[in-house]
Amino acid sequence: MKTYLVSGGAGFIGSNFVLKCRERAVARIINLDKLTYAGNLQNLAGLHNDPDHVFIHGDIADDALVRNLFEKYAPDAVINFAAESHVDRSIVSPEDFIQTNVVGTFRLLQAALDYWRGRSGGKSQTRHSFSDGAGSASFLFLHISTDEVYGSLGQDDPPFKESTPYAPNSPYAASKAASDHLVRAYHHTYGLPAIVTNCSNNYGPRQFPEKLIPLIILNGLKGEQMPVYGDGQNIRDWLFVDDHCDALLRVLERGRPGEIYNIGGDCERKNIDIVRDICAILDDLLPDSPRRPHASLIAFVKDRPGHDRRYAMDCAKIKRELAWAPSETLESGLLKTVQWYLANPEWVESVQSGEYRRWIEINYENRR
Ligand code: NAD
Ligand code: TYD
Repeated sequence: MKTYLVSGGAGFIGSNFVLKCRERAVARIINLDKLTYAGNLQNLAGLHNDPDHVFIHGDIADDALVRNLFEKYAPDAVINFAAESHVDRSIVSPEDFIQTNVVGTFRLLQAALDYWRGRSGGKSQTRHSFSDGAGSASFLFLHISTDEVYGSLGQDDPPFKESTPYAPNSPYAASKAASDHLVRAYHHTYGLPAIVTNCSNNYGPRQFPEKLIPLIILNGLKGEQMPVYGDGQNIRDWLFVDDHCDALLRVLERGRPGEIYNIGGDCERKNIDIVRDICAILDDLLPDSPRRPHASLIAFVKDRPGHDRRYAMDCAKIKRELAWAPSETLESGLLKTVQWYLANPEWVESVQSGEYRRWIEINYENRR
């Protein structure tokens, strides 16, 4: 069995990925997570007795720790999910984003490079032959990034391709862009077998309720205002987290080192439409709720500064080369997501204490 060093595996996407890897016995997982406000060990509760899941509480920027993990566990791949991930927080306090997303990724890359050199004798792999995919590589650094690095699209612009020039607009997007460029440079300069995936907005179980979809679901359940920024006409592409994790497994098996793969849900929606869809699902699932109709909770609030208007993804490359496509529609994925939040009140309860409450006060107080 392979060994994967997963960073940020207690967060939203990372935990879904780790659970999937263990469920399918794809790899032994060494899970390095700093447990910031977004990291939640409850996400990994199902792995409590799993000897092939090792949790390490630590920072990707801790050079000595990371080097020790490479030496001790000799991973076949690193999957770097660890990041500060919320745009609004990056506007309020950007420094954490530089520290983790840029400096942290740099430290992880440098440690990975030294480890890979020791492991392979420094021999470069054939970088551009499809038959020489990651499955046959001796090591892979898989870096998880975002469509936000490409900037904002106009209504009639074609979707982002892997060749779209970077034009990040928020401190978050800029920090992710910087880390993507470092990964690219480590491949180009040193030959480190590395791949960057850029995905669109994920949603699904275990997402921290600072992001649009879980925030709207939980506010609906509590009968609190559903804040829609600006005119609600901003468009995002939505990807169910399980489909994203399947795509990453495909990239790990067959992706070509040195390449970028866009991963999206084939699903562009206006924010206001997503919020209305969630309200309709809540109305259906909770026929006796005093909050019905949930859409009466919708409130347009002050816009996010620099708010990107539209993101859309062209995923032709991963479909063509790796035979991946999303299996969930927004309708089916949203229903599963709302059902998950309804079925997991303890999880909801635990994240609603502490940091989450403080963030709601800071972020929404001046938008009213
Ligand atoms: P998240 O905020 O839910 O989780 C991030 C995890 O990283 C947390 O568990 C946190 O404790 C951990 N972490 C933060 N700083 C760390 C550090 N210095 N060292 C170790 N661990 C650290 O984020 P997510 O939504 O799961 O996103 C995962 C990755 O996917 C991120 O890199 C993000 O930029 C990218 N991404 C997310 C989305 C999305 O819609 N959620 C879309 C595109 C790309
Ligand atoms: P978010 O979930 O923060 O993801 P991102 O900024 O990475 O795309 O936001 C998704 C969209 O929803 C974005 O256009 C901002 C908007 N939004 C609201 O309208 N209200 C909210 O309370 C939040 C958190 C986001």
